[in-house]
Amino acid sequence: MKVVSVVSRKGGSGKSTVATALAGTFATGGVPSAIVDLDPQGSASAWGSSRPADRASVEVVVAKPANLGEVLGGLRARGVAMTIVDTPPHNDAAVAGALAFADVVLMPALPSAFDLHALASQLEGVVQSRKPALAILNSVTPNTVGLREAQAAVAAMGLQLLAVCRRMAWQYAAARGLSPTELEPRGEAANETRAICEAVIKMLDGEGR
Ligand SMILES: Nc1ncnc2c1ncn2[C@@H]1O[C@H](COP(=O)(O)OP(=O)(O)OP(=O)(O)O)[C@@H](O)[C@H]1O
Ligand SMILES: [Mg+2]
Repeated sequence: MKVVSVVSRKGGSGKSTVATALAGTFATGGVPSAIVDLDPQGSASAWGSSRPADRASVEVVVAKPANLGEVLGGLRARGVAMTIVDTPPHNDAAVAGALAFADVVLMPALPSAFDLHALASQLEGVVQSRKPALAILNSVTPNTVGLREAQAAVAAMGLQLLAVCRRMAWQYAAARGLSPTELEPRGEAANETRAICEAVIKMLDGEGR
């Protein structure tokens, strides 16, 4: 079983949106998938509860950082092949646990100075974890100076980067317990979701940092 942990110190950067989109996409692609929700806010759990019964099942397990290893062991034993760990923004133990168990780390950040500062401040822990990592600049507006500056700032941190635009399909999908690839398979948000999945697979195959 592979573990993809989604972390950022900033609230509202898109952790739960990305985590649920990936789980839904992998599950629909035939990969038995689960989410571990380390956030008491429970966004990923709410997504799981609203997921339509006729969709590929995604087990969402609520866990505390201290139980993460045990919960992941249980999922592995039940034949889950891909687990996405969604984390809260302000819980160092949750982030440390998620990094420790991760095969791949995803770091969503809005393209703002404050979010990029938070991303930079988390970089040391991710580098120390020696796990392949991908920054996701989320909710961007294409062709803006702000986006170009944010891309340059992330590149200067030595991180691989994907950009995801601000689109209603991301919100609609999350509200319906779906991934954008399930909501509107030919839409732009679906393309962005697949790009993240492909980057994750490459990193798992050892082609990332
Ligand atoms: N690409 C996007 N386009 C439009 N809306 C988005 C996009 N990504 C996220 N959102 C919206 O932004 C808000 C924050 O996203 P989300 O809840 O995934 O962030 P989070 O990092 O998990 O937040 P928290 O730190 O509170 O757990 C949500 O309302 C979500 O629907
Ligand atoms: Mg969240």
